[in-house]
Amino acid sequence: MTMKLNLIHFKSPKCPSFALPSAARCRTPKFFMASALPSPSNETETLKNPFRAQVTHSMPPQKVEIFKSMEGWAEDNLLIHLKPVEKCWQPQDFLPDPASDGFHEQLKELKERAKEIPDDYLVVLVGEMITEEALPTYQTMLNTMDGVRDETGASLTPWAVWTRAWTAEENRHGDLLNKYLYLSGRVDMKQIEKTVQYLIGSGMDVKSENNPFLGFIYTSFQERATFVSHRITARQVMKHGDIKLAQICGTIASDEKRHEIAYAKIVEKLFEIDPDATMLAFADMMKKKISMPATFMHDGRDDNLFYHFSAVCQRLGIYTADDYADIVEHLVAQWRVENMTGLSVDGQEAQEYVCKLSPRIRRLGEKAREMAKNAPKIPFSWIYDREVQL
Ligand SMILES: [Fe+2]
Ligand SMILES: [Fe+2]
Repeated sequence: MTMKLNLIHFKSPKCPSFALPSAARCRTPKFFMASALPSPSNETETLKNPFRAQVTHSMPPQKVEIFKSMEGWAEDNLLIHLKPVEKCWQPQDFLPDPASDGFHEQLKELKERAKEIPDDYLVVLVGEMITEEALPTYQTMLNTMDGVRDETGASLTPWAVWTRAWTAEENRHGDLLNKYLYLSGRVDMKQIEKTVQYLIGSGMDVKSENNPFLGFIYTSFQERATFVSHRITARQVMKHGDIKLAQICGTIASDEKRHEIAYAKIVEKLFEIDPDATMLAFADMMKKKISMPATFMHDGRDDNLFYHFSAVCQRLGIYTADDYADIVEHLVAQWRVENMTGLSVDGQEAQEYVCKLSPRIRRLGEKAREMAKNAPKIPFSWIYDREVQL
């Protein structure tokens, strides 16, 4: 693969200085997931380095044709995973209706139920909501990809239609969680709103290099990760008695599942068309690690906010190293990676790497769990500086 390496200084106009205070701006994400794994040793060096390498346009131009030739397939096989708007749930279906006479009664009930949610679960819910609210970043990320981007903002290619409709479906997630948490009266909305603004201003760097092979592997993984975390959150808040909120998280989880199926199907097709390039891309993304979309979150106070949020998720079992390993195993099985033949030497090496990856992740997870023992309690501005165990 030909790769262009761009060295971008943090103070360059491409990384606007208004987005984050200096300490946070120069912070390299130390944890690639729910704080489940310790940092690799060479990352210390990265942390000291004020330059960050960003690779762009790593897909050879001729491969764009693959995505052009897949348009008919995408029309028939991808767009069927979108739900017509008229059949979609909307946030209002789960919220008190401010136009109804019973609004105040419904609001009182909502607040009563939400009283039972422990602070650490509130931190998880807020972090999940903030992650969903940074949707402009994710639509931007999809539109960085060569060969599938929405060229006009209203392009009629199936790739562009998918991206817009996916965004529109996703938009309901942050909207609903935001309104519910606002009405619960348990969280500091101004601090949350600031975090969302910081996060959208900071963007994300998932290292997909404008390359749809890498990008669709990322989205397959990421949608499954959000499916897992929303599903487990649903179970946990159910245990704490908020059935309505459990229903909300479960409903969002089922959207994520549908999206995961669609993205994984694209990669499955890519394995069929170009097994070697897809295998190399899979291993490449796994080596770079799947960073969570909200890694750059900041509330104006806590320079390690994402790490702290992730540590709480890890401790509560919302999203852990084992979940990460499970997702790797799931994708390896779904794409029938183990039995794939006819690969180049590099392709075979990549295949071996991804097939042997999950036990290594589980071992690192154990180490991280050990390190997390006796973790301190810290205040979270999202819940008025009440302290939560990491
Ligand atoms: Fe979502
Ligand atoms: Fe999603």
